[in-house]
Amino acid sequence: MTSGHGVWITFEGGDGSGKTTQSNLLAEWLEGAGRTVVRTREPGGSEVGQLIRDIVLHHRGDIAPRAEALLYAADRAHHVATVVRPALARGHIVLQDRYLDSSVAYQGAGRVLDAAEIRDLSLWAAEGALPDLTILLDLEPAAARARLDSADKPFDRLEAEKAEFHERVRDAFLGLAEEEEDRFLVVDASSAPEIIAERIRAGVDALLD
Ligand code: TYD
Repeated sequence: MTSGHGVWITFEGGDGSGKTTQSNLLAEWLEGAGRTVVRTREPGGSEVGQLIRDIVLHHRGDIAPRAEALLYAADRAHHVATVVRPALARGHIVLQDRYLDSSVAYQGAGRVLDAAEIRDLSLWAAEGALPDLTILLDLEPAAARARLDSADKPFDRLEAEKAEFHERVRDAFLGLAEEEEDRFLVVDASSAPEIIAERIRAGVDALLD
């Protein structure tokens, strides 16, 4: 493990799978138990990352798939070095929305780049850092799309991709969870938020013991 003394937990899943809601609930629970929690995300968890986030999510027009992969990797490199590692070194719990599994799923399966190359690129960027626990909120893309529609927010570049893209992303996430069973906790994100939160708390509790 590369995380020093803290605990590093990432949330993964498709757009509209409820990561933010669950990350909020878990943070409240951990803080209630007296833990220091650092909330962060990729892309955009640092100042430089905010600039990169703006490009990858809001640039009008195409971005070449490899350029997109490098932009996410650049965001990751800076974020891990300046936000995640320092927080872990201080013994904090880092709760992070999305990490390298998103790159493997979205740039690898979604954009059809080589999954192993994308993973290696991210590992290089982050000097091999991997989370202690990755919570995958698994949801059928059609259900996720219905949630996004009802949220009434304009779609970003990735959200606007067609259903088939999001199917590939979902399958890729599930494949990653199978490959790394010990790191992943897969939760059915179609359940009620409180039930999902309970499952997540059980998984995190086991990790903190
Ligand atoms: P997210 O912050 O979850 O979007 P929102 O704030 O709208 O909930 O993620 C932004 C988008 O970036 C999401 O569609 C997934 C995509 N993404 C990648 O394609 N590759 C990556 O490596 C990461 C971290 C995100």
